[in-house]
Amino acid sequence: MSVEGKKRVVTTRSLYEMKQRGEKISMLTVYDYTMAHIMDTAGVDIMLVGDSAANIMAGHETTLPITLDQMIYHAQSVVRAVKNPLVLVDMPFGTYQGNSKEAVHSAIRLMKESEADAVKLEGGIEVIESVRRILSAGIPVMGHLGLTPQSILKFGTYSVRAKEEEEATRLLEDAHLLEEAGCFGIVLEKIPALLGKQVASELKIPIIGIGAGKDVDGQVLVSHDMLGLNQEFSPRFLRRYHNLFDEMQKAFRHYVKDVKSGDFPNEKEQY
Ligand code: KIV
Repeated sequence: MSVEGKKRVVTTRSLYEMKQRGEKISMLTVYDYTMAHIMDTAGVDIMLVGDSAANIMAGHETTLPITLDQMIYHAQSVVRAVKNPLVLVDMPFGTYQGNSKEAVHSAIRLMKESEADAVKLEGGIEVIESVRRILSAGIPVMGHLGLTPQSILKFGTYSVRAKEEEEATRLLEDAHLLEEAGCFGIVLEKIPALLGKQVASELKIPIIGIGAGKDVDGQVLVSHDMLGLNQEFSPRFLRRYHNLFDEMQKAFRHYVKDVKSGDFPNEKEQY
């Protein structure tokens, strides 16, 4: 953000410095104003407006259907609430894989219309021209390797990636390529912990893991999963910090009961 006094505290530079001094980086997904406001007060370092909004907010089976306009809407809602964390926005499927000109156009729209701080996109060598072109426009880019949900139909499964040496070597090469291109960080999703550790120790930029073990520079989770709002998803890497599904269901049931019985509203709750 350019307006003096409204600058966010966490920047790509401060994230780099956190890695240098060994301070772990916390990142969570968020898609709306209210949740972003709560998260902002809790000291999260990076808020990711993830394309997982396609699953979490819209109920799609994959992240593929979400559009650039929809991502901009979610990012705008988050940015309005956020003071401290860096706001990172996923570039949705189909907006950067085709050609690098289209990629920079999509990234510029995201940044201009949402006032977010950075974009994230999935892939290594196959999207490197897009990464370079976006960076050359002055837009910070975070990479995403390992299990890349936008390619789920090609993988055919959500199982752990890069278990075999060949894929692990390719991932390592891609990580170096992204760093050399100028990415400020990389998300590693669902890969063996030893490989996560190797990438984090070979690269200078922060490596944020989701199912990539403890020896990376930071962690990211989907907020609805860690809050226990989504009960169907239970991968080994997920730690649930609450059971909000049950809590919310209890509150909704209580409300229905009170309305049906005539208990709500009472005399103090009317004009
Ligand atoms: O969209 C998303 O939620 C993500 C995380 C899984 C890192 O990209």
